[in-house]
Amino acid sequence: MAVLNVNIDHVATIRQARRADEPDPAWAAVECELAGANGITVHLRQDRRHINDRDVRVLRETVACKLNLEMSMADPIVKIAEQVVPDQVTLVPENRAELTTEGGLDCVRYKRRLLKVVKRMHKKGIAVSAFITADRDQIAASAETGCDAVELHTGMYANARTENTAKKQVLHLMAGRDFALENGLIVHAGHGLTYRNIAPVARIEGVCEFNIGHSIVSRAILVGMRRATREMIELIDKYGPHEV
Ligand code: PXP
Repeated sequence: MAVLNVNIDHVATIRQARRADEPDPAWAAVECELAGANGITVHLRQDRRHINDRDVRVLRETVACKLNLEMSMADPIVKIAEQVVPDQVTLVPENRAELTTEGGLDCVRYKRRLLKVVKRMHKKGIAVSAFITADRDQIAASAETGCDAVELHTGMYANARTENTAKKQVLHLMAGRDFALENGLIVHAGHGLTYRNIAPVARIEGVCEFNIGHSIVSRAILVGMRRATREMIELIDKYGPHEV
C-alpha cells in the first residue's frame, strides 16, 4: 500500500508573500502527521523563495514521521543536508526562473556529480531518491549511482489533455516502475497529482510513496490541513492495490 508525503512548501510561500511569521510550516506538518501522513516533504531552494534554512532545522526537530528534503545537488545545499540529516533527500533539478520543478533530474548527464552526492548522503545514513522521468536510461543511471529510490515524474500524466494521452502516460510510468524494480530501486511518484487525477496512479502496484503538495495545500486553505491530508490518504487507500 502506498503512503503519502505532504509537500508543505506552499505554506511557506504564503508566509513569504508578506515576509511574516505565519502560517508556520512546522504547525502545518503537525496537522499532516495527525491526519496520518507518512512523511513531510520540503524543498529548500537555492533562492529560498519559500522554505528557509530555519524551517528545515525546526522540522528536523519536530517532525516525528519521515522528513524528506527535496533539493538540488548544489554544494551549499548538500552541506545543509549533511548537517540537518533528513531521513531522505529527493534530488531534483533546479532552475531559477521556474515556478516549480520542471523536468526530472538528468542522472545520465550528471552521473559523476550524482555518484558523489549519493556517497555523501549515505555516509550520513540518509536515503537518496532521484526525481526522474520514467525513462530507462535515467532509471539505469539512478541505480548505477547507488540511489535507493526513484521518484517517477507524474507531471506529463497530470498535464495530459485527453484520456488516451493520460493512459499512455500511465503505461509509461508502469514500464518505468518495472525497470526500476528490476534494478533494485524503491519506486516513488509525484508532481501535479490532485484529488481528481490520483486514482489511475494510485492503482499502480509497486509505487510505495507519493509526494503531493499544491493540491493538498490548496484544499487546506478551504477545509484545513488535517482534513485535506486525510482526504488524499483516503483516495490513495481506496484506489491503491490491496493485498489479499
Ligand atoms: N515531487 C517533486 C520532486 C517536486 O519537485 C514537487 C513540487 O515541489 C512535488 C513532488 C509536488 O508536486 P505538486 O506540488 O504538484 O503536488
